[in-house]
Amino acid sequence: MGAARPLLGWGLLAVAVVLAIAALRPAHPARAQQRDPDAPTAAELTEGAELYAVFCASCHGSDGLGGVVEGTGRRAPALAERPDEVTVPYVDLVVRVGRMPPAGDPFDNRARNRDVIDERERELLVAYLTREFDLEGEIPNPPEGEARRGLEVYDTNCAQCHGSTGAGGVAGRGAYTPQINQYPPVTIAEAIRVGPFQMPQFDRTTISDQEVGDIAAFLDHVQEESGTPLFRLTELNPVYASAYVFVLALVILASVVWIAGRPAWFPDPQPPQAEEDAS
Ligand code: HEC
Ligand code: HEC
Repeated sequence: MGAARPLLGWGLLAVAVVLAIAALRPAHPARAQQRDPDAPTAAELTEGAELYAVFCASCHGSDGLGGVVEGTGRRAPALAERPDEVTVPYVDLVVRVGRMPPAGDPFDNRARNRDVIDERERELLVAYLTREFDLEGEIPNPPEGEARRGLEVYDTNCAQCHGSTGAGGVAGRGAYTPQINQYPPVTIAEAIRVGPFQMPQFDRTTISDQEVGDIAAFLDHVQEESGTPLFRLTELNPVYASAYVFVLALVILASVVWIAGRPAWFPDPQPPQAEEDAS
């Protein structure tokens, strides 16, 4: 028994030393100074602020509290202080699809601005908005899906507004819905979870994350399948379709006039003079 005492003493001392070292060391000394690699730098935030000032502030206000849109007398909504409605994926989505900044009348949801803000600028802008307006939520990352399963979920939840192949333009009551079969999975996922503007929002109990991936896979599949849209009238937005029919009618009319104006139905059976000379 007497021999065990000093051993116990040394053991306690060792434990005490280890505890003391642990207590004196700052937690994660290396990481204490390292910043989160995903956090925007000060320079990036400044760039984001400039983008907001140039592209958004005229309508949404530099404080993000909204304001009257010049020439319309109607208000642009606040982006700040509406944590339940305006989220990170919402601002990302509207810029991604070119709905904001508006191409024309901001209340006309047909307008899309495609090449105003590039991918890097969008990221800087979203990072700034997230920080400045305390936006919540994350940009979704849907799992890889299966087109066959996606068809069913799509048919049940989306087809009535966006058309059976995502070509858009078929919602009732004169409302316009955009074409959506050209978008990557992230855009599809954002729209489903956000429910932008007049579109309903779908939560996980209605459409699971896997089903979001399936819908994206289905839309990608129809996009690949559909060849040239020119001769697939039923797939066209009705506005374009009627314009197409109008142009087609003009072409037919013009040909009829041209044919009627010709002296004969068939060209002269006699070969042209030049050919005879050559032989
Ligand atoms: C010309 C004015 C104008 C500019 C510029 C503009 N917006 Fe908008 N924005 C509007 C209007 C108006 C609406 C509401 C449209 C509607 O309800 O149909 C809107 C709606 C939004 C919404 C949806 C808010 C909600 O309550 O549903 C977001 C998000 C948004 N804008 C973000 C932006 C961002 C980000 C920019 C800059 C890249 C921007 N907007 C630039 C006028 C503008
Ligand atoms: C009640 C009709 C309705 C239903 C149902 C609906 N959407 Fe939408 N969706 C809209 C409208 C309207 C817009 C355009 C909103 C705006 O920009 O003003 C839209 C926008 C979108 C966008 C953004 C495209 C863009 O260019 O702005 C995507 C992506 C989208 N919807 C996907 C879906 C998917 C996937 C489903 C099914 C899970 C679905 N929607 C169900 C009406 C609907």
